[in-house]
Parts: sequence; C-alpha cells; structure tokens
Amino acid sequence: KTETEVELMGKLEMLPIYQPREKFSNKGTYGHALIIGGSYGKIGAVMLSGRAALASGSGLVTTFTPKCGYIPLQTAFPEAMTITDSDDEKITAIKFDIEPTVIAIGMGMGTHKDTHLALQEFLKGNTAPLVIDADALNILSKHKSDLKLLKPQTVLTPHPKELERLIGKWKDDFDKLKKAKAFSKKYKSILVIKGAHTITVFENKLYVNSTGNPGLATGGTGDVLTGIITGLICQGYEPLTASIFGVYLHGKSADIAVEDYGYQSLTASHVIDYMGKAFLNLF
Ligand code: APR
Ligand code: MG
Repeated sequence: KTETEVELMGKLEMLPIYQPREKFSNKGTYGHALIIGGSYGKIGAVMLSGRAALASGSGLVTTFTPKCGYIPLQTAFPEAMTITDSDDEKITAIKFDIEPTVIAIGMGMGTHKDTHLALQEFLKGNTAPLVIDADALNILSKHKSDLKLLKPQTVLTPHPKELERLIGKWKDDFDKLKKAKAFSKKYKSILVIKGAHTITVFENKLYVNSTGNPGLATGGTGDVLTGIITGLICQGYEPLTASIFGVYLHGKSADIAVEDYGYQSLTASHVIDYMGKAFLNLF
C-alpha cells in the first residue's frame, strides 16, 4: 500500500519550477494554445480563458467557438485567432487546421447532445496535451464510458459540484481525497480540485495551494485558471507542474489585485491583468 504524500506549495516550491523567457526567442518558442468552448450567451468564458493563456505566457492563442463567437472575439480579443463551428449557437463538430501545442476545452460550452458527440470524436482523435473544464467535465460525468478516451496526464479542473458529478458524493474531506486519488490513478489524470484551498491530485500525491482569497468567488475566475494552466503547458511546462504553478499564480494574482480592488470588486479580468505582478512577485 502506497503512502499519500502531501505538500504545501508556496513561493519556495515555485522558484525552481519557473522557466525564464529566453532573449533569442519568438512566439513560436512559446507554443500555440487552442481554447475550445462557448455557446450562445457564454462566449465570455472562452475569451477569459484565452486572455489568461496569453497572460501566463503562451505564444499564440486560437479560439474555437460556435459562430456567434466570431464577432465578439474578433472585436474584444484582437490577440486571438478565431475558428468557428458551422452552428451558430453550440459546438457540433470540432475541426481545425492548426497544430496546437495544447488544448483547453469546456468553458461555457453547454451540454447539448451534439456537443457531446463532438467532444467524443475530438477525444478519440486528439494527441495534444489537454485541459478539461466546466461543461466538458459535466458531459464526461454524464457519459462516464467516455472517460477511457482520456490520454495520460490530462488535466481536469472541477469545482466542487463538477467534482461530485465526476467522482460521486463523499462522506467527508478524507473520503473526497481518497476518491479523487482513485480517479487520478484509474485515468492517469491530474485532478485540480478547486476551492478556497485548491488541491492538485496526481495518483498518491496531493499538492495544497497557499495563495488565493474570497475575492475569487466571482464568475469567470475558474475560466481564467484553466487559461493560465493551458498557457503554462503551451510554453513547455509539464502538465502536473503547470497545474501546481498555475493554481499558485492564479491565487497570487488575486492576492495582489485585491489590494487595489478589494474583495467585493475583484473580477476575473483583474486576475488576468495582475498575472504579470504575480510572476514578478516570485523574485
Ligand atoms: N477562496 C479562494 N479561492 C476561491 C474562493 C475562495 N473563497 N472561491 C472560489 N475560488 C477560486 C476557486 O479555487 C477557482 O479557482 O475561484 C475559482 C472558481 O472557479 P469555478 O467555480 O469554476 O467558477 P467559474 O468558472 O468562474 O464559474 C463560471 O463555469 O464551471 C462553470 O458551473 C460553473 O457556471 C459556472 C461557470
Ligand atoms: Mg468553472
């Protein structure tokens, strides 16, 4: 029987992880992130994830959304390239002609049956490192047999409700972590269990985050976290390292931003805007 290892992740643990930007580098050095999600009225989730991926250092970002995402993304997110589904309101077939370094999927995506089929086909063919959030998690929870399509090292970022749908109800925190470890072992996946103390679970190892505050209890901050982790994988961090470091930077950014905006007024966009200060705070 293997022992559970628990590690508290603070600044000292992050320093050896950090990869400096190279002088003679270009956008190609830092990879191309593809952010898949959105549905009618929920394009903002994709925009937040994409902007966060750039803020954590990815070289290029492309979004994939239903057609209704085209104008808002091209207008409010000029750094991104956009690809759209043939359907106006939901994702029905995930097709693209780029070779992404990493893919994030699920934010604001909805759980329509056509979107489920699109996700299933996508998972069968995909070989890029993958971060799965929100409605993509909800779809997989409803169709658990699709979980076997996940490649090793896939990152899943459930909030408490999404986690419950995925691993079932738990009796107490001890039971929750036991179920999470069993899930991680079964699917060789990385589970980022979000909450006031976010815990990243990989097999028998638990990494407890030390940053973040209740200012983060506001819509869209989860989408930002997914984008940050995706951006880190994009530039070369291993998925587990990117998850631990991403959770730390997300919380640190909020901790710095809250000094300017206060707990009540902090928004998901502020967490993106303060990512630079979160990186600089490491030194
Ligand atoms: N203290 C510290 N961190 C917190 C706190 C808190 N009190 N409350 C929330 N957070 C952090 C979480 O750890 C997580 O990183 O804020 C983030 C919230 O993420 P989500 O719950 O996924 O919220 P969000 O994605 O913004 O919600 C938008 O997406 O996942 C769906 O169903 C969800 O409808 C919702 C939508
Ligand atoms: Mg969320």
